[in-house]
Amino acid sequence: MCSIIGYYGNKIAAPIIVKGLKRMEYRGYDSVGVATESNNQIELKKGVGKVQEVNSKVQLDTLPGKIGIGHTRWATHGKVTDVNAHPHPSSSGKLAIVHNGIIDNFEELKKQLEKEGYIFKSETDSEVIANLLQKNYEATGDVKETIMKTVSEIKGHYAFVAMFENGQLAAARFHEPLIIGVGQDDFFLSSDVLGFIEYTDDAIYMENGNFVILDKNKFQMSDFSGKHVGYAITKVSKEFGDAYKGDYAHFTLKEIYEQPTTILKAGEKTKDAVEKVADHIKHAKNIYMTGSGTSYNSALIAKQILSKFAKIRVETIMSSELQFSSDSIEKNSILIAISQSGESADVLEAVKIAKKANCKIISIVNLTASSLARESDIIIGLNCGPEIGVAATKSFTSQLAIIYKMVQKLSDDKIEIDFNKISESILKILENPTKIQQIAKELKNISDIYVLGRGIHYPIAIEAALKLKELTYIHAEGIPGGELKHGPLALMDSNVFVIIINPNDSTYSDTLTSAREIKARGAKIIGISDVKSNVYDYHIEIPETDELSYPISEIIAIQMLSYYAAIEKDTDPDYPRNLAKSVTVK
Ligand code: G6P
Repeated sequence: MCSIIGYYGNKIAAPIIVKGLKRMEYRGYDSVGVATESNNQIELKKGVGKVQEVNSKVQLDTLPGKIGIGHTRWATHGKVTDVNAHPHPSSSGKLAIVHNGIIDNFEELKKQLEKEGYIFKSETDSEVIANLLQKNYEATGDVKETIMKTVSEIKGHYAFVAMFENGQLAAARFHEPLIIGVGQDDFFLSSDVLGFIEYTDDAIYMENGNFVILDKNKFQMSDFSGKHVGYAITKVSKEFGDAYKGDYAHFTLKEIYEQPTTILKAGEKTKDAVEKVADHIKHAKNIYMTGSGTSYNSALIAKQILSKFAKIRVETIMSSELQFSSDSIEKNSILIAISQSGESADVLEAVKIAKKANCKIISIVNLTASSLARESDIIIGLNCGPEIGVAATKSFTSQLAIIYKMVQKLSDDKIEIDFNKISESILKILENPTKIQQIAKELKNISDIYVLGRGIHYPIAIEAALKLKELTYIHAEGIPGGELKHGPLALMDSNVFVIIINPNDSTYSDTLTSAREIKARGAKIIGISDVKSNVYDYHIEIPETDELSYPISEIIAIQMLSYYAAIEKDTDPDYPRNLAKSVTVK
């Protein structure tokens, strides 16, 4: 999703901005741009492509001046073109803005501004902010008044940074992330701590409905009505500065290989929280779980095992769907929101709805300073370190580890979960990638893959299909084993591959029967199992283990298969096309 960065200080801004944008590349984007102020003049360069490509073409990092703004755009309004890339200057060129989010009333504002003679060059909603700021600045001659007037006129969700020709920077936040990095003699304005972590670990998380103005004489934070507000400086975890690939070819591969360790660290920094949450769950009348993408798939697993091992009924609702069933959210219940980033707009919206119904909000989240964490009554931290690859890998297994810990507590420790054993199983799979690499070659020219699993392995099949889609762009679908005969069997022929998730547990023999039925229709079978079978054309062996540990081994095998298939297909596993790591728009 779009990333914003602003710099105000004593160093040359452009190289710092370009570096910050590179650090935030993982958020997903299609174009990039930088603008700086020097000698009361704004200079601007932008273009379509990766930061490195555009920088080589137009030398973004050579722009002069010690004040600047930068942006990576993920298109929402208007095509992926140089003109639509940010920053957007106002029609006079006296100010420029970068914006993240969506301006809902941009069409009416644009019409009005055009009538008044303001010129628009792009198709974006963002350019409206630039011209509206200019109009209000021309009317008031004061940056603070200008921001107040502008935020009262725009509707939607946004974070923007505006740079004025006189060297003032202003930034406003409304339901989109914006964090201020406080350096020794400089300030950073960024969507993500990674934008400035190299320079400072002191951060101010701006509250919704606040704006800040930076100039030579002041750092001033106010709310949208103009009242001065206080702020707290938080220490950001230094480990987020650790976001380097090291010896790995991609972040995704590095993050897959971190899992023997991250699985052991899950929830470690928020130990009492699991106990507290278990207590709340025990006494709650209704428990809802929500999330998006991979995080929602974790909720599906939680639902099954909470019911099976702790006799607790949970209702799972996709965050993007929760608004349509808001009436059924019973008052004073619990909402458990699962999210890696804690910034997914759909999840935040779901939380807002649940809060209206007086629900307690519990979050299972990796970024414990995120918007979601700040909206929560109890936070359980995944503690798996920065996840840069757009497709979630280690955050998923850490979410499962937290869920397992919760179930363990809720079953009064009747079920035993040996995390060291799980970690060893993961390691065994990771240590032997050759077979998986060979199978990945077979997927290169395939257009359909189905993944079949039963019981707890069905949500894994759904997550597996998501990984394959995200990383390889192959059409993939999870199938609940028992439903095969009720439709999916019609799709089976010699052109498709079917991954059968078949550990040696209570689902084993029924799933083997499904595999046989599929094979009889000519499809190729990849079996993920601890038991060999001649039904499988290809076998990915996972270690023999227990019911709750199998799903983790299974998804590790699938993550590797998806990663290596992406390599075969020459797609970029870290930044899949059209996707973003942190989807901050609805
Ligand atoms: C995006 C990512 C997915 C992720 C989902 C939820 O769609 O591409 O990989 O699972 O957001 O993200 P969250 O940060 O809320 O877990």
